[in-house]
Amino acid sequence: MLELVFDQVTKTFRGPNGTTATAVDGVSFHLAEGESVALVGESGSGKSTVARLATRLERPTAGTVSLEGMPLQAVADLPYRVQMIFQDPFSSLNSVHTVGYSIQRPIAVKERISSPKARLKACQALQRVGLTPPEPFMEKRVVQLSGGQRQRANIARAIALSPRFMIADEPTSMLDVSVGLGILNLLVDLRAEEMALLFITHNLAAARYVADRVIVLYRGTIVESGAIDDVIQRPLHPYTQDLVAATPDPALPFVGGRLGDPETVEVGWCPFAPRCTRRTARCETPILRRVVESGHSVRCTLYE
Ligand SMILES: Nc1ncnc2c1ncn2[C@@H]1O[C@H](COP(=O)(O)OP(=O)(O)OP(=O)(O)O)[C@@H](O)[C@H]1O
Ligand SMILES: [Mg+2]
Repeated sequence: MLELVFDQVTKTFRGPNGTTATAVDGVSFHLAEGESVALVGESGSGKSTVARLATRLERPTAGTVSLEGMPLQAVADLPYRVQMIFQDPFSSLNSVHTVGYSIQRPIAVKERISSPKARLKACQALQRVGLTPPEPFMEKRVVQLSGGQRQRANIARAIALSPRFMIADEPTSMLDVSVGLGILNLLVDLRAEEMALLFITHNLAAARYVADRVIVLYRGTIVESGAIDDVIQRPLHPYTQDLVAATPDPALPFVGGRLGDPETVEVGWCPFAPRCTRRTARCETPILRRVVESGHSVRCTLYE
């Protein structure tokens, strides 16, 4: 199966005066074809760095990112297989060109087809994202579009290349709520077309709307992961519990229950310990990550 895999990936940035900052710390997860996974965490938790590693805009300091078993660095046609939608719809389309040119040019290069054929495909992509009729939008420049329209045009540019994987880095955070909801609905529709999605957000409700699975990141470390409804109904890690408590969602009451048999899978320590009301001295020593049931896993001394 076609998969995007992070295997023990660490990314450390060098700062001034020899200082270093570890944005992503030993992160392992996979995104299978057709799957939708949300990556959730507060500001600075490393979400965008994961997105940039997944699209080769950054190289891992340690560990590997691979696509279908091949290290990302060796994948020749990566932009045609993995596309990114950025947080800022204002910066991702070139304002020098028309929207039509920005979308049709990469199609013509990828598929080695004539401009009229590429133009037709660009129009189809605009139609799919709800910019209809497409012709007038083809002639516009990005400055003539609203924020929501720009983000739709940006998504059209990404899907026009028929990628199997889409990384969406907080695609609605700069939009009004109602406009953002339109974009979330669009992402849900695109999922139906079998494109895998890594949806990055700090909002659990948005994550639940779009994704099947969730990965909770805190200071560059995965503290919990699992099926989104499992994690929201029974958050195990104190950080996830805080996140859920801060997300009003009356449709999903907390459901208690017995944990499955734990299975040890790797070690690490808890970056949330300094903020956690339930910390013990154990939290700042290596902790076992445990898969508790059906893929729901947590890294917390409460479950050792
Ligand atoms: N190019 C860089 N150079 C130095 N430090 C960086 C760089 N990129 C990210 N960082 C640091 O890495 C950490 C994670 O940043 P990142 O942008 O991945 O977080 P994020 O979860 O996307 O945050 P936000 O929700 O605010 O977008 C932060 O502490 C950030 O300052
Ligand atoms: Mg970010």
